[in-house]
Amino acid sequence: MRLKNKVAIVTGGGVGIGKAYAHGLAKEGAKVVVADIQEAEARKVAADIQQAGGEAMAVAVDVTSVEKTQAMAQTALKAYGRIDILVNNAGLYSALKKKNFMEIDGDEWDRVMAVNVKGLWHCVKAVYPAMKQQGKGKIINISSGTMLSGSPFFLHYVSSKGAVIGFTRALAREVGNDNICVNSIMPGLTISGSNQEGVMTAEQLADRRKRRAIQRDQYPQDLVGTVIFLASDDSDFMTGQAIAVDGGMNMY
Ligand SMILES: NC(=O)c1ccc[n+]([C@@H]2O[C@H](COP(=O)([O-])OP(=O)(O)OC[C@H]3O[C@@H](n4cnc5c(N)ncnc54)[C@H](O)[C@@H]3O)[C@@H](O)[C@H]2O)c1
Repeated sequence: MRLKNKVAIVTGGGVGIGKAYAHGLAKEGAKVVVADIQEAEARKVAADIQQAGGEAMAVAVDVTSVEKTQAMAQTALKAYGRIDILVNNAGLYSALKKKNFMEIDGDEWDRVMAVNVKGLWHCVKAVYPAMKQQGKGKIINISSGTMLSGSPFFLHYVSSKGAVIGFTRALAREVGNDNICVNSIMPGLTISGSNQEGVMTAEQLADRRKRRAIQRDQYPQDLVGTVIFLASDDSDFMTGQAIAVDGGMNMY
């Protein structure tokens, strides 16, 4: 087990890809704080991890709230005494409808930025004091392959995921001397359980299969190994990086 005695917070861990990250980290021995705005779903994931012999707890969090993200970190510290890993996975994605940029209204744009960009900053601010004090930490920010391909009709979302890369790089430089690694992952289109309706179409799936070097659909499990690697000691000298995990669709 590569993450024995480590404590990991996974935001948006209640459903979709975040749920797979939570299970994967727990299987490697981490104590997992499943943090989600969908509290009932977070509770189910934590219970499933416990039932499988792992350690986990659920925390309700809205990443747009300074108070709630601070409370999330305090709850984790109270329960487990430390925070080693933060997976900034919560995002507005499957809840969004694809539309022409002219049709996106200002409130929706602001909401996407509040969750997908500012939310990461809130979570980092909440866990940083513990990581600094411990002399080590791993922050993994979930971007998206859409920022490489420039997916159309999702301008706010793609812009927010581009911002995640800049955020990752600048933060990595600020916390490097605290021995905190900050990296990001750019997943390809993933059948996550929550994006089947609205966001993802059969045509898009067929298109992605064709454009990948490994020509098949992508599932949450395809991303878990990279998260574990970035959370583990194996990646201790890697920071500020953005890794595409998409079956070789984007090569850059
Ligand atoms: N599925 C894909 O194809 C794909 C591809 C690239 C990147 N991503 C990114 O991966 C992450 C997970 O994707 P998914 O497919 O599981 O999406 P999803 O929409 O199913 O999951 C988003 C998660 O974030 C949570 N969340 C939303 N707003 C929140 C808030 N304010 N506070 C706390 N939690 C909040 C949701 O409850 C949910 O658990 C997202 O950041 C998404 O942008 C997904």
